Amino acid sequence: MRLSPVLRAQATYPFVRLDEAKLRVAERGVTLVDFGMGDPREKTDERIVRALVDALPATEGYPRAQGLPELREAIAAWALRRFGVELDPATAIVPTYGSKEAIFSFAQVLLDPASGKDVVVVTEPAYPVPERGAAFAGAEIVRLPLLEEHGFLPELDAVADEVWRRAAVVWVNYPNNPTAAVAPLPFYERLAGLAAEHEFVLASDEAYSELWFDEPPPSALQVRETGARVAVFNSLSKRSSMTGYRSAFVAGDAEVVAALKAFRPNVGTAPQEFVQRASVVAWGDEGHVERTRALYGRKRALLLGLFERAGVRVAGSAATMYLWVAVPDGGSSEAFAERLLETGVVVTPGSYLGPSGEGYVRLALVPTEEECAVAVERLEGLL
Ligand SMILES: Cc1ncc(COP(=O)(O)O)c(C=O)c1O
Repeated sequence: MRLSPVLRAQATYPFVRLDEAKLRVAERGVTLVDFGMGDPREKTDERIVRALVDALPATEGYPRAQGLPELREAIAAWALRRFGVELDPATAIVPTYGSKEAIFSFAQVLLDPASGKDVVVVTEPAYPVPERGAAFAGAEIVRLPLLEEHGFLPELDAVADEVWRRAAVVWVNYPNNPTAAVAPLPFYERLAGLAAEHEFVLASDEAYSELWFDEPPPSALQVRETGARVAVFNSLSKRSSMTGYRSAFVAGDAEVVAALKAFRPNVGTAPQEFVQRASVVAWGDEGHVERTRALYGRKRALLLGLFERAGVRVAGSAATMYLWVAVPDGGSSEAFAERLLETGVVVTPGSYLGPSGEGYVRLALVPTEEECAVAVERLEGLL
């Protein structure tokens, strides 16, 4: 069968490889404690669930791409409370069916090779979707490494002007998956300056902005640079443990949002209206988010204690549900992950997430507190 060459060239999605390895260990009767995939298993807050149930209609038509005004207003109110930024609910926000599809298709909306905009810039190691979406859209992809010596921020000065000129979109993701590093506001300011100068869209994936431990991280929405087109992607998936609901948004530059409103009806719809009604409740409440942060904080402390006692270095890891752990003794990240897997503890080799991830493994703090304690016990002697 003939297939898209981009699909054919694509390596196995990393987690498929991980799943195969897990199966082999589980078949030996070892119970797994799975820090692999970043899919929260916490309970969604009862008020949010109830709002969804109460909104279930007898019939539901196609949800319109622009989403319910109530949802856009709830998102605007949240952005004002959280970042002090005013967003016009009518022109600056569009709800999306989770962030993933919106991130994937963004390059299709903005690439214009005929006018010289044929490049998408991404960072690595990374959540693979911005790059995959750019590849399917036919972009030339430029990867900027995230290195520990630069605080896991891309080195903007090392990028050639030609790359910025040809860039249609430049992706950043802070708090970062997988390094869990946070970007300071001056980083966004600098990038926005480049976006204005070279006319690319600064796309900021902020799916983890609410999972912080010391102080709330800033948003690219706060950038004041005039002429910079900024598009921020945020989601209820991690903030409110709602991955299965599929509820997120893109906010920022009005022309980008207008382009998305024109593009999105070609592809799909906004989230179901009962999901949007539940989302209004979710964006309007911070109590459940504080409880979620506290829970991740406790799990994080358990694992940080283990690594400290074992003399294993934890890098980055200022926010998010992830720990980015340096492989001890300079071994490969895949070999280290396999060693941990022998005890049933599943982690992601950093090399699965990009070449600069070699030398690290990622732990997603999604197992329960009890399971985290079991993992600590199993690893205590091993590390
Ligand atoms: C960096 C990053 N962005 C976006 C997403 C997508 O989130 P969702 O599609 O559930 O909104 C994820 C999910 O793991 C992620 O890690």
